Amino acid sequence: MTDSKESKHEEPSRSPHDREPEQPLSGDGTTRWTTRPETAADTGAVYAVNAAAFPTDAEARLVDALRDDPQAWLPGLSYVAEAADGSVAAHALLTRCLVGGAPALALAPVATAPEHQRRGAGQAVVRALLDAARLRPEPLVLVLGHPEYYPRFGFVPASRYGIRPGFEVPDEAMMALVLDDSGPVPRGTIQYPAAFGV
Ligand SMILES: CC(C)(COP(=O)(O)OP(=O)(O)OC[C@H]1O[C@@H](n2cnc3c(N)ncnc32)[C@H](O)[C@@H]1OP(=O)(O)O)[C@@H](O)C(=O)NCCC(=O)NCCS
Repeated sequence: MTDSKESKHEEPSRSPHDREPEQPLSGDGTTRWTTRPETAADTGAVYAVNAAAFPTDAEARLVDALRDDPQAWLPGLSYVAEAADGSVAAHALLTRCLVGGAPALALAPVATAPEHQRRGAGQAVVRALLDAARLRPEPLVLVLGHPEYYPRFGFVPASRYGIRPGFEVPDEAMMALVLDDSGPVPRGTIQYPAAFGV
């Protein structure tokens, strides 16, 4: 279990007085989130957070489909951030993908329940999940997402490593994070789990 605290500069306009009343604050007034791997009891809440965060329930159903795919699902690499009342505020998932035929990790989806957004829950759960991946012999994480959001975790355009998706996306949206550079970084085309449908 990881206790995470986001720094104050991320939300300069928010003061301790306009926080959600139920959310505990650390001594310097920033929100703290408890992050941990999902358990069997979280399945419904994880679905609900993804369904609420995205315009449709496609991502929520994607998570369930990935959970049912033993080739894609990696136990211990689906993480949640808990709100003060113990409910699931945010979720992030790493599943098995291939890059040029070599194993890598795909980060998707990442979701924070709308009522908890922009309070650091997303960053807390992503950081905890990436830390969990760093404890494993995993060389590389890929993410297709907001180019303004993921560089804060160390992601850079995947094209710098000769990594490309098998479909058209803006170059800056396909990002890579090398976890272990002691060996060659896989390069080539990304092959996502079947549930992604790409
Ligand atoms: C994107 C998302 C996961 C971020 O989680 P969060 O808990 O709201 O974000 P945090 O509080 O951890 O981080 C806030 C930072 O993220 C940025 N951010 C939030 N949503 C963003 C978005 N859609 N695009 C780019 N940046 C975003 C904020 O501007 C803020 O940046 P700053 O630190 O530079 O001020 C969340 O807003 C969400 O679930 N959105 C809907 C689903 C989605 O788009 N998922 C990501 C798919 S790639």
